[in-house]
Amino acid sequence: MTEQERLDGHRAQAEEWLRHCFQGRAPRGDLYDAMYYSLLAGGKRIRPVLLLESCRLCGGDPEKALPFAGAIEMIHTYSLIHDDLPCMDDDDLRRGRPTNHKVYGEATAVLAGDALLTAAFEWMLDPSVTLPPERTLEAARVLARAAGAQGMVGGQVLDMAGEGHAMGLTEVEELQRLKTGALIRAAAEMGCVLAGGSEEQRKAVCRYAERIGLAFQIQDDILDVVGDEATLGKPVGSDAKSEKNTFVTLKGVEECRHLVEKLTEEAVEALSIFGDEGDSLCWLARSLASREK
Ligand code: IPE
Ligand code: IPE
Ligand code: MG
Ligand code: MG
Ligand code: MG
Repeated sequence: MTEQERLDGHRAQAEEWLRHCFQGRAPRGDLYDAMYYSLLAGGKRIRPVLLLESCRLCGGDPEKALPFAGAIEMIHTYSLIHDDLPCMDDDDLRRGRPTNHKVYGEATAVLAGDALLTAAFEWMLDPSVTLPPERTLEAARVLARAAGAQGMVGGQVLDMAGEGHAMGLTEVEELQRLKTGALIRAAAEMGCVLAGGSEEQRKAVCRYAERIGLAFQIQDDILDVVGDEATLGKPVGSDAKSEKNTFVTLKGVEECRHLVEKLTEEAVEALSIFGDEGDSLCWLARSLASREK
């Protein structure tokens, strides 16, 4: 099996899990339609794939970690629905479709995000999860921390607060580490925790994910300037419109490209303890560095 086939396998499993996660629930107006609209709109599924591969790499069974892979994608999707709202980035296109609030209205979009966030915890604590309870609880704790004020939400606050006035490099790095890095790091860490991996393995996958997390947001900022809207599935120029602070505003596109390459190689080095078994995550890091969507 090639590295790509292994990751495609994880992606397909996560996709399938997400497709059925709310089946059989009592309807609540158009709430589930709004949730599924964004959840099944064809995101890249980087976080679930990373979680499942980190779990395998650290000696676990990715199949048992599926509800956690689904949970982190739900939280990521909720963050995108809220990120696009008029009170935040005010964007009209996401994952190649009109944004959630454009279709369902702002109130339902806010509530769909709330319900996805809550469902993530419901699924991680579901009785069908057969992993040791201490692993389940630790993984849920890791995700809660990464999603909240000390993680993604905290980063979004810094991002919004910085609109329209120039920030320094240290501040922008902190903002990116929180708004995007925290969930990517959590994906890798949760995979290791769920596998019952060693402290050494946990440190290695976290270090890897910190590097790819930063590279990922820098690449996102590059694509916001030089990307193609149809390929990206979201607007180009959104950051300039909102006068955001990004690595590109500080360093320019060319220097940012070098930075992405450097961070990617650092990520690959962090996996050296795994030998050849780490090849899939190395492949993932390199493919993200050259992504166009
Ligand atoms: C977009 O995330 C928002 C950022 C954190 C940069 P992704 O680029 O992972 O978006 P999807 O899930 O593929 O739509
Ligand atoms: C958003 O960053 C990160 C989130 C926590 C959603 P951006 O605002 O740059 O993400 P995009 O470019 O809209 O996907
Ligand atoms: Mg934003
Ligand atoms: Mg945005
Ligand atoms: Mg962006």
